[in-house]
Amino acid sequence: MKSSDKTDHRKVLWPGSTQLAPVPAVLVACGGSKGWKNNLITVAWAGIACSHPPMLSVAIRPERYSYRIIRETEEFTVNLPSADLVRQTDWCGVVSGRDHDKFAESGLTSLPSEKIASPIVAECPLSLECQVKQVLELGVHHLFIAEILAVQVSERLIDAKGRFQLEKDGLLAFAHGHYYNLGECLGHFGFSVRKKSGSHIRK
Ligand SMILES: Cc1cc2nc3c(=O)[nH]c(=O)nc-3n(C[C@H](O)[C@H](O)[C@H](O)COP(=O)(O)O)c2cc1C
Repeated sequence: MKSSDKTDHRKVLWPGSTQLAPVPAVLVACGGSKGWKNNLITVAWAGIACSHPPMLSVAIRPERYSYRIIRETEEFTVNLPSADLVRQTDWCGVVSGRDHDKFAESGLTSLPSEKIASPIVAECPLSLECQVKQVLELGVHHLFIAEILAVQVSERLIDAKGRFQLEKDGLLAFAHGHYYNLGECLGHFGFSVRKKSGSHIRK
């Protein structure tokens, strides 16, 4: 029986699957060296993997056009789309660079990276320039573990105190097949133990 009562803690057991959500939906840009043209692929299986050295991972299926590009060039950029780029983000995830010039046809603009040959996406407020360090062939996805060599952020989002106000652009999230615009801020890191906040999770 369905219940909207949050104290009803009965569970249903499902087989193991990729239910973790929300996750980012990022635009991975690749190409620009070894004879490869620039391409974009939308990736939801992406995340930070290490703080020092700064590393991230992206999981890409070998049948993707971008897979061979990244495997051969060993570099890519991770570009975080703002919520208003949701249509372009979805489109880059349903057509292939084999048949489309995704930069030209989506209207997204390529800009040069500082440290690698793959481009960044000008319209994205945050771009991470990455160099592949390891590839783990896990199953249908291969996990590219890469060092973040440089980060490009939109100057217009840096306030007078030097704080990067990424949230001003409207953050995009992906959960169970749907895109979301992240809502209100609920607190900051460690707020639950700050004396003055008075808002501990458990009293
Ligand atoms: C929201 C979204 C998330 C996606 N996440 C991944 C992913 O994590 N890994 C992957 O291999 N493909 C993912 N895809 C599918 C690829 O983006 C899609 O197959 C794309 O057309 C591949 O482009 P390419 O052939 O030019 O490389 C995702 C697609 C969408 C729309």
